[in-house]
Amino acid sequence: MIRARGLTKTFSRRKEVVEAVKGIDVDVAEGELVAFLGPNGAGKSTTLRMLTSLLEPTAGEAQVAGYDVVAHPAQVRARLGFIGQGNGGGFSYKVVDELHNQGRFYGLAPAVYRERAADLMAALELSGLEKRAVQSLSGGQRRRLDVALGLMNHPPLLFLDEPTTGLDPHSRANLWEHITAMRERYGMTVVLTTHYLDEADSMAERVVVIDHGEIIADAAPGVLKHEHADDALTLVVSGGDEPAVRAAVPDGFGEVVVFPHDPSTGSGGPDGLRVRVATARGADALPGVIEAFRLAGLTTTSASVRQASLDDVFLNLTGRSLREEAAA
Ligand SMILES: Nc1ncnc2c1ncn2[C@@H]1O[C@H](COP(=O)(O)OP(=O)(O)OP(=O)(O)O)[C@@H](O)[C@H]1O
Ligand SMILES: [Mg+2]
Repeated sequence: MIRARGLTKTFSRRKEVVEAVKGIDVDVAEGELVAFLGPNGAGKSTTLRMLTSLLEPTAGEAQVAGYDVVAHPAQVRARLGFIGQGNGGGFSYKVVDELHNQGRFYGLAPAVYRERAADLMAALELSGLEKRAVQSLSGGQRRRLDVALGLMNHPPLLFLDEPTTGLDPHSRANLWEHITAMRERYGMTVVLTTHYLDEADSMAERVVVIDHGEIIADAAPGVLKHEHADDALTLVVSGGDEPAVRAAVPDGFGEVVVFPHDPSTGSGGPDGLRVRVATARGADALPGVIEAFRLAGLTTTSASVRQASLDDVFLNLTGRSLREEAAA
């Protein structure tokens, strides 16, 4: 559905040159749901705008839905829906007029666009808001209207640039439900951007991590976490000192950190130690560690597994935390 090679965008403004996208290669197969994940300024929107033919690449090429984005922009646009980072809807229009205008823009017959508009409003829980001015909608309602606008031409390929940014958790979950339902209903390929790690983790089948205009990882979230980050086991043990605990950790585990245990915060006696062990597949590895401790005469009084997150992946790949960057 998408094949991009060496896709590059350099912006030059006066003396300032910004290499927004530095030669990315990416393929998206029909039916995939792919999330581009990266910090502010990583080049996500610029990539999407090139793939949707809104922005001409400085170098490289892309075929989208069978057409070259530079040579055949009109054919490309006819086959995709694009929901930009800002809100698309005009301010003073009524909701239903926005949808009908979009239908006219795609050259649909009135009977067709009226039916589609009604369908989409029902599917995206916008029924009853037909006559409302767009500017009076809530953030979540507006984002759902944006999605409806992007779907008016029943595109085989849908691009969403940060569809959920700024929405509360309930609206985010709700919008995701709609996106997944629409995808199933129309058999769409979906490419979206987000900087919500949990969202990319739970919703995308494939995550393309982009940083400073380059793709630094591209795989299913589970694969990324397995390859680029460790789970962390935390155990509270008693019956031995730090060297004894370290010696008891079986070979093949990652970093081991030992802290004095503060009994006021959990189980274990006053002489207990808290041990953090990095490992792949933490849940599977935990019983072996407890057993090794037992054989070494140590008693484990509590244990937990923290699964690797996509933030750990980003941190290990770049040395920076995406979570902290998002907060900053
Ligand atoms: N029209 C433009 N002129 C000059 N620089 C631009 C232009 N558009 C984008 N840039 C720059 O290109 C870089 C990538 O921007 P882009 O919008 O693609 O990032 P993004 O990953 O979408 O970020 P965000 O998460 O903030 O939306 C940034 O440094 C940005 O300032
Ligand atoms: Mg952006």
